[in-house]
This record gives sequence, structure tokens and C-alpha cells, in this order.
Amino acid sequence: MEDRYNLKDLEGAVCIVTGANSGIGKATAKGLARLGARLVMVCRNQERGRDAQAEIQAVAERARPSHTDTVDLHLADLGVQEEVFSLGETLRAEYDRLDVLVNNAGVLLGSREETPDGIEKTFAVNHLAPFLLTHLLLPLLKETAGRTGEARVVTVSSEAHRSVSLNFDDLNAESGYNALRAYGQSKLANILFTHELARRLRDTGVTANCVHPGVVATNLWRGSDWFSRLARLFTWFYKDPEDGASGVLYLASSEDLDGVTGQYFDGTEAVNPSPDAYDEKAAARLWRESLDFLGLEVPAEEDDTVEGSP
Ligand SMILES: NC(=O)c1ccc[n+]([C@@H]2O[C@H](COP(=O)([O-])OP(=O)(O)OC[C@H]3O[C@@H](n4cnc5c(N)ncnc54)[C@H](OP(=O)(O)O)[C@@H]3O)[C@@H](O)[C@H]2O)c1
Repeated sequence: MEDRYNLKDLEGAVCIVTGANSGIGKATAKGLARLGARLVMVCRNQERGRDAQAEIQAVAERARPSHTDTVDLHLADLGVQEEVFSLGETLRAEYDRLDVLVNNAGVLLGSREETPDGIEKTFAVNHLAPFLLTHLLLPLLKETAGRTGEARVVTVSSEAHRSVSLNFDDLNAESGYNALRAYGQSKLANILFTHELARRLRDTGVTANCVHPGVVATNLWRGSDWFSRLARLFTWFYKDPEDGASGVLYLASSEDLDGVTGQYFDGTEAVNPSPDAYDEKAAARLWRESLDFLGLEVPAEEDDTVEGSP
């Protein structure tokens, strides 16, 4: 894939992947480690995280024998705001550069669950967590881009965004929960966030793009709800996680995408998302409401920068 998609040598680069212990995130982490990056995994479970860390480290060393000890593991439940804040602080203290942030962790939940912050969990993990983590790491991303010319934010979205509109009257899914609607809205939120972020980061060297990885056989379908049970019957036909990760890796590291920002990809191909995903007013409103959900101050006068945000 390296040659075909002009993937860069990432020697010296630091790449963070959330949800790196499983599925598309683990395959992406292996790909980035193979390209020579210092790989920073964010996982919620120590045992699953350590097992995957050993696997990814072995891949790194096979590709580059001098790359011992190049895969780090950080634990955080991304559904708990306090843990995301503290993760951001730790990462900023520990790394002096950040070339690529892959917002990959995600859930599809059969029934409505709430986080300790009282937020519907799909919205919290799939949208608010990447929104917050990206903001907390923006200073590092910008500094890196200032030195190297570019840093990238890649968010894993889904074609599931096409079946829904964002219901601003009920972002917390309090009046009637539907798993596919909640999931689709969170994935639409990923694209609106990417568009707004790209707009706000114009001329900083930090790019923001998002990707549908394809339909992939992963733990995403492990739920006991009717939809996940049905989906599991067809996993034979799905992509394997390595195939699913190819688009994510392309966005994270291809030379083809130097300077490309604010785009939605289906795998490695730039495509148009749904008309709702282009709604600039909705993107700006989602930004403000996300700050509000996180208990952060909404700047009195919105300007074109993210300064004043978290
Ligand atoms: N599979 C598909 O067909 C498909 C299609 C379109 C988009 N996507 C997107 O691809 C991304 C990766 O999903 P996947 O298919 O690879 O599923 P997966 O195998 O279930 O991986 C999801 C990852 O997210 C982590 N995660 C979930 N909740 C978390 C939390 N609260 N805090 C920290 N980490 C958390 C999981 O950790 P644990 O292992 O501890 O649960 C796991 O590492 C998701 O954003 C998903 O929406 C998948």
C-alpha cells in the first residue's frame, strides 16, 4: 500500500490513534508503526490495550529492527470528560510534537446509555470526545505544523451519516432512542466538525479530513440488539480491518493529501457527503453546542480562530 498510495516515511513523527486496541484502530496503528512513527495508543482497558501494544510493537520492530519501545499506551475512557481532559494534559506534557491525530474510537449502542456526565454515550464517545481531544491537542498540532509544514487530524466517520439529519432539539437523545439514528447523527457530527475545524484552521498547516472506512468486520457489531445481530450474519462479506484501515492510513500519511483539508473520503477516494454535512450554520451551531455540553465557555463573539475555545 505504501507505494501505491504514496505513503510517507513517518520516522520521527508522533501519531495518536484512539481505540487502537481493536478493529480499524489497531490496523491503522500497525500501519503507522510500520511507516516508522512513534505510535501513541489511546485505549480504555489496560489488558486489551497491553495485548494490542505488544502486537503493534512487534509489527514496528519487524518493519524496522531499531524501533524497540516505539509504541506507547495511554488509558482513558473517552466517554468520561474528566478523563479526556486529563489525557489531553498528559499527552501535551509527554510529547513535543504531534503529526497525526486519528480520532477512531467509536461505539454503536443498541440501547440508550448515559455517561457519568449525563450525556448519551454514542454522542459523547463518537462526537464530543474527538471534539474535545482535538481541541486540547491543537496547540501541539499547530506547533508541529509550524515546524514541519503540516499536521493532520483524521476522524473516522461513516456512510451511516447519510440516513439522518442532526436533531438539535434532542442531541442527547432523550425523547426516544434509536441506535441507528444516534450512530448516524454522531457520524454526521464527525463530518460537520471536520468541515468547521478545517475552516477555522485555515493557514495554520493543520489539516482536517474524515473517512468512511467501508463496512468492516470488527467488534462494532458485537451488540445484542437486532441490528448488530443481523449485521453479524453478513460479516463474511465485510472488509477485514486491514482493508478498512487503508483509507484511514491514506488520510493520515499520503503525500497525495499534503495541504488537502475539509474533505470526506470513502476509503481512499474523496466523495461528497450528504447535503446536511455541508450545512455551515449547522456546523457552527454544533461547535457552540459541543462547547456547551463540555461546560466550556462559548466565545461571546465567534471569530475565525479556535483561540478562546478550550
Ligand atoms: N466497522 C465498520 O463497519 C465501520 C464502518 C464505518 C465506520 N466505522 C467507525 O470505525 C471506528 C472504529 O470502529 P471499529 O469498527 O474498528 O470497531 P471496534 O473494533 O469496536 O473498535 C472501536 C474502538 O473504540 C474503542 N472505544 C469504544 N468506546 C470507548 C471509550 N469510551 N473510550 C475509549 N475507547 C473506546 C474500543 O475499545 P474497547 O475494545 O475497549 O471496546 C475499540 O478500541 C468507529 O469510529 C466506527 O464508528 C466502522
